[in-house]
Amino acid sequence: NVSGAKAGRSRNIIEKMEESGKNCVIFYGSQTGTAEDYASRLAKEGKSRFGLETMVADLEEYDYDNLDTMPSDKVAMFVLATYGEGEPTDNAVEFYEFITGEDVSFSEGSDPPLENLNFVAFGLGNNTYEHYNSMVRNVDKALQKLGAHRIGEAGEGDDGAGTMEEDFLAWKDPMWAALADKMGLEEREAVYEPTFDIVNRENLTPESPEVYLGEPNKMHLEGAAKGPFNSHNPYIAPIAESRELFSAKDRNCIHMEVDISGSNLSYQTGDHIAIWPTNSGDEVDRFLDIIGLKEKRNYVISVKALEPTAKVPFPTPTTYDAIVRYHLEICAPVSRQFAATLAAFSPDEEVKAEMTRLGSDKQYFHDKIGPHFYNIARFLEAVGKGQKWTNIPFSAFIEGLTKLQPRYYSISSSSLVQPKKISITAVVESRKIPGRNDPFNGVATNYLLALKQKQNGDPNPSPFGKTYALNGPRNKFDGIHVPVHVRHSNFKLPSDPGKPVIMVGPGTGVAPFRGFIQERAKQAQNGATVGKTILFFGCRKRSEDFLYETEFEEYKKALGDSLEIVTAFSRESSKKVYVQHRLKERSKEVGELLSQKACFYVCGDAAHMAREVNTVLAQILAESRGVSEAKGEEIVKNMRAANQYQEDVWS
Ligand code: FAD
Ligand code: 2AM
Repeated sequence: NVSGAKAGRSRNIIEKMEESGKNCVIFYGSQTGTAEDYASRLAKEGKSRFGLETMVADLEEYDYDNLDTMPSDKVAMFVLATYGEGEPTDNAVEFYEFITGEDVSFSEGSDPPLENLNFVAFGLGNNTYEHYNSMVRNVDKALQKLGAHRIGEAGEGDDGAGTMEEDFLAWKDPMWAALADKMGLEEREAVYEPTFDIVNRENLTPESPEVYLGEPNKMHLEGAAKGPFNSHNPYIAPIAESRELFSAKDRNCIHMEVDISGSNLSYQTGDHIAIWPTNSGDEVDRFLDIIGLKEKRNYVISVKALEPTAKVPFPTPTTYDAIVRYHLEICAPVSRQFAATLAAFSPDEEVKAEMTRLGSDKQYFHDKIGPHFYNIARFLEAVGKGQKWTNIPFSAFIEGLTKLQPRYYSISSSSLVQPKKISITAVVESRKIPGRNDPFNGVATNYLLALKQKQNGDPNPSPFGKTYALNGPRNKFDGIHVPVHVRHSNFKLPSDPGKPVIMVGPGTGVAPFRGFIQERAKQAQNGATVGKTILFFGCRKRSEDFLYETEFEEYKKALGDSLEIVTAFSRESSKKVYVQHRLKERSKEVGELLSQKACFYVCGDAAHMAREVNTVLAQILAESRGVSEAKGEEIVKNMRAANQYQEDVWS
């Protein structure tokens, strides 16, 4: 609501559609940009294939008590991600509470209120989480209960299985057919129409004060950034300290401390910090080169939406370089639909035929592209056999690539110990790809590594990091600051320090538990009686990647025997030893502590570890209480509902 109100925009979606001549609105509930991206793609496709007058809408920018006045010749689409433990994304909270509320009421009060509403629904979820796609399922149910008519199936994309994109593509074609039938739409030959106009600003240079070079908004441009700092407005925080926790031959892990004392940001132990990354300089060069803009990278341009409901996803005037470096997710995997869109702009007929096949044949795309970890530029290089792709309108990239997303990290410090300094514990994503000389590098973690090297004045930067252009031309992101915001979470220690806690956090899953243990050590120093504090930690080898080993020894001085670190080293013997094995070995004690209402926490890998820990815990409970495994599962479910079992997991 804030952003809509601030800009003085109307929050009345019906009015907005009438004014702008739209008959299809695509609402999105998005946390990491994918749902927003899919919404834009549906808007584009609806217009080009069926002549629908589409608009995309952020759920938080409108009110919903007049949905009952949506005329039946219009359609509302909902593209909804499920976040965390079955929660709505931040921008969908109000809508969700309204539409699923007990006493939802509408402007005209008729019954059933949404009889005229035609809707379409697609959900983005992850089957490794318990509440798989609960947002779309619950919203679909709520809308139908209110009398609305769903067109086509409610689609469900699964990030856990890695099939999100294909689930979306498989869902949308029958949906379009059903919608065309319902609304009497004629399909036409899809012709690409740009959403944005790129205007050269010849009178400006990158040095002109009004030109944005990565600054996320006007306050930052004018050097007067002020809070609230949030997902629209990061704080450019000084880096207080950064070091490597370990550096093995193919892996390293960074500990970074970010100073928030100059801001009004605050955090609580267990919260998340978002890092706003910068793309690697090498990948920026590669991208600008393959699309023929390398020479023009510092041209100043304005980007204008060609229709009133489209939004330019970054501030302008700016440069091609700044857009690519700071605002577009240029390193992510390529979507098959985007390949199909780009086919029309191929450098020759042979390449066009190949692109068209890649765009339309799922298996072929999977076999040809899947193994290589291509980003868009590497993909174009490979398919175009080195030819430049100078025909692609730049607008197509703004539309077709996701906005560069902040990455979240579980804060690894305690706010009781260091309220103004936030620690991050991040393992650097880098892996060898068969048939490729250079490794695949994750965006944010390699950015953090590069910042670490820069901050330390490292004379010998690792090959992962040295390609990062840390200095924007105006030196705003000077390499010793990092843009951040904080996201509050429910992952919290019990308010009574006397309560026992059991924590399971292998690898970087240890991050929040370092904060928890730091906090309990401080509480003990302050004279509190601190309950049993057990951490199950797993890594490859004690000598290689045991995070915070010496620090934990220090905390033992304050916590004494109440602190116990149980280790599982998976690569010290021929047999894999994981945290869940250690948990099982300690069944009796774990069962007893849980009977004393110990809080149980799991952090780290969602796909395998967290699930297996869940299963083992159910077995432990079944054994210790003399009940069936099914009953054990039920007890774990109840523990989750009562917040006695808390997860902070990611995939
Ligand atoms: P990205 O560039 O985002 O890549 C991530 C993965 O996407 C790659 O490994 C790969 O599998 C895939 N991918 C990306 N591009 C391609 C391509 N072109 N082709 C094929 N596959 C591709 N991490 C930590 O280290 N510590 C934490 O404490 C922590 N806490 C988290 C808490 C939460 C709530 C969440 C949601 C995540 C957390 N993470 C944490 C994970 C973190 O947010 C990042 O996802 C992680 O650091 C990788 O980011 P990156 O930008 O380096 O990698
Ligand atoms: P591995 O890589 O040797 O298989 C941190 O990444 C630790 O978690 C490593 O020791 C890793 O072992 C281990 N790990 C991998 N898969 C796991 C799983 N399914 N459950 C628990 N730990 C796992």
